[in-house]
Amino acid sequence: MALPFVSPIITNASSAVSAPILIIGAAGFIGRFIAEASLASKRPTYLLVRPSPTETKRNNVVKALEEKGATTIFGSINDRDFMEKMLREHGIEVVVSTVGGAGILDQPILVEAIKAVGTVKRFLPSEFGHDIDRADPVEPGLTFYNEKRKVRRLIEALGIPYTYICCNSIAAWPYYDNHHPSDVLPPLDQIPIYGDGNKKAYFIDGVDIGKFTLKAIEDSRTINKCVHFRPPNNCLSINELGSLWEKKLNRALPRVTISEDDLLAIAKENDLPRSIVAALTHDIFINGCQTNFCLDQPNDLEVTSLYPDIPFKSISDCFDEFLVKVSHPVCKELKVVVLVYKPQN
Ligand SMILES: NC(=O)c1ccc[n+]([C@@H]2O[C@H](COP(=O)([O-])OP(=O)(O)OC[C@H]3O[C@@H](n4cnc5c(N)ncnc54)[C@H](OP(=O)(O)O)[C@@H]3O)[C@@H](O)[C@H]2O)c1
Repeated sequence: MALPFVSPIITNASSAVSAPILIIGAAGFIGRFIAEASLASKRPTYLLVRPSPTETKRNNVVKALEEKGATTIFGSINDRDFMEKMLREHGIEVVVSTVGGAGILDQPILVEAIKAVGTVKRFLPSEFGHDIDRADPVEPGLTFYNEKRKVRRLIEALGIPYTYICCNSIAAWPYYDNHHPSDVLPPLDQIPIYGDGNKKAYFIDGVDIGKFTLKAIEDSRTINKCVHFRPPNNCLSINELGSLWEKKLNRALPRVTISEDDLLAIAKENDLPRSIVAALTHDIFINGCQTNFCLDQPNDLEVTSLYPDIPFKSISDCFDEFLVKVSHPVCKELKVVVLVYKPQN
């Protein structure tokens, strides 16, 4: 595969580690990895958090980040006046959005606020998946991606300096019926195989998503680029993923085929977010949407070409950690689910 030529690293003022960063959604699944990496880089780190007196788990995450040096600002990106005032007051130069679900639709207000303030030198919208302009999911995944595409087009139309992080799949078990990989461990009773199980995808550890996102922010080569995460050793099919997990468990598990038609039927139910997950699972493991194109566009960059000396955590190491969790009593608090889709008639 031909990869684009990558020039040497030239850091500029916009990427200096002293430039304040605002992370929106830091208490969420992906946002926490970005916040941890930002704090590790010693960058002044602000978290935008929606006030919630009740959500203990979320509040604990925010507290843990504050203890590492983050400053919390309470508010929502839906409030444009507040966003403009806050971006100015704190001299924010880098904004990373990791809003999920319905929050994707709130981002145009954020983009307008960034444009009005004019001092943000880099914006990373909530992407953190595969390339939404190349992927081709069925509904309701398509609507979800169209919302993300709308944000991309607005950023580009307004001339805001951006970086799109296409980190592909997080290194967690890719269940087709569960929207939050953080809640589950790999299967212990049977392995769901999508289609023939041979289409490959990239599985990236959450800490590496945070670490390489921060590397991209600090790198002037990634301005107005799409940064793809394609470490060759992290590219596996679901058959290979299953075999690796069985090796770790030291026992074989029965395999259950979830066919293309099964995934399409769940997507068709339009039961959100479950149907979105089924549509995206179909696109990844039936269509091969993470691997069925070359990085041949002028705005494509590949992360292992940008940072050839920094290794990615292997799936084997990720599975070793899951193994510790499944062997630990605490794992009983975590859901281990495998639901097999059965047509209604
Ligand atoms: N590559 C992968 O495997 C993978 C996996 C999961 C997600 N993703 C992608 O990563 C991104 C983040 O998803 P996620 O699952 O991490 O989301 P998440 O866990 O639902 O977290 C989203 C966060 O955004 C906050 N938020 C939402 N709307 C907001 C608003 N208007 N103002 C301020 N904060 C707001 C939420 O705050 P509250 O707590 O107040 O609701 C929450 O903290 C999405 O683009 C998603 O598609 C990728």
